Amino acid sequence: MTTLPKLNKNPIFVALDVPAATAAVQLAQQLHPHVGGFKIGLELFCAAGPQIVEEIGAEKVFLDLKFHDIPNTVAGAARSVARLGVMIFNVHCLGGVEMMRAGAMAAREVNAATKIIGVTILTSHDAAQLQEIGLAEEPAVAARRLAQMAQQAGLDGVVCSPQEVASIRAECGPDFLMVTPGVRPAGAALGDQKRVMTPQEALATGANWLVIGRPITAAPDPAQAARAIAQELV
Ligand code: C5P
Repeated sequence: MTTLPKLNKNPIFVALDVPAATAAVQLAQQLHPHVGGFKIGLELFCAAGPQIVEEIGAEKVFLDLKFHDIPNTVAGAARSVARLGVMIFNVHCLGGVEMMRAGAMAAREVNAATKIIGVTILTSHDAAQLQEIGLAEEPAVAARRLAQMAQQAGLDGVVCSPQEVASIRAECGPDFLMVTPGVRPAGAALGDQKRVMTPQEALATGANWLVIGRPITAAPDPAQAARAIAQELV
């Protein structure tokens, strides 16, 4: 079992989007001095199982599994991840207020320290893709509406595009946690992300945490890439 040292205060969560525990632990060992935490998503969790949370260190993990199911099932899943002791996990706002409330209540009964946040609109979605699934609103409008629902359900915050942070902050107040993927240093490849900002811009607009994946993990020297971004944020 690998034990990594405690992390400095740093707003970067690195998305460990890799297919195996060995690759994830190797990245975490390289990156821990330069980042604030690690995001474990579906690819890694499905391959490596819950023990990867312990290996990386639950207190610095954002577990991004985007629960979206009936309230009773989400409550059970929320209990299980809160028991792992993760720093943050998420549910999908499109599951509705009742589902989000059930997840938040169940998690807090088990572990009051774990934060639960809602995914609003995926940062890979644009207006045309929202139309395709029957949402006629602009992404920013839909994201603000879903953030209000998350707050009403008692969630600690949301995952949203950096472009939506200012309007959600105005709507939901200073204590609402905002975690933003879709972050790209100037000149970096967008990949499938459509609504992006640079790390500095995302923080300036009021984001609390930045999720950054490929610009760090696919760089020739991931530690150097993370260090460069962290230094620009100081
Ligand atoms: O590599 P990249 O920086 O695009 O990684 C972004 C990460 O954030 C991915 O793990 C993706 O699943 C996640 N994410 C996202 N948009 C959301 C929620 C999560 O891109 N709305």
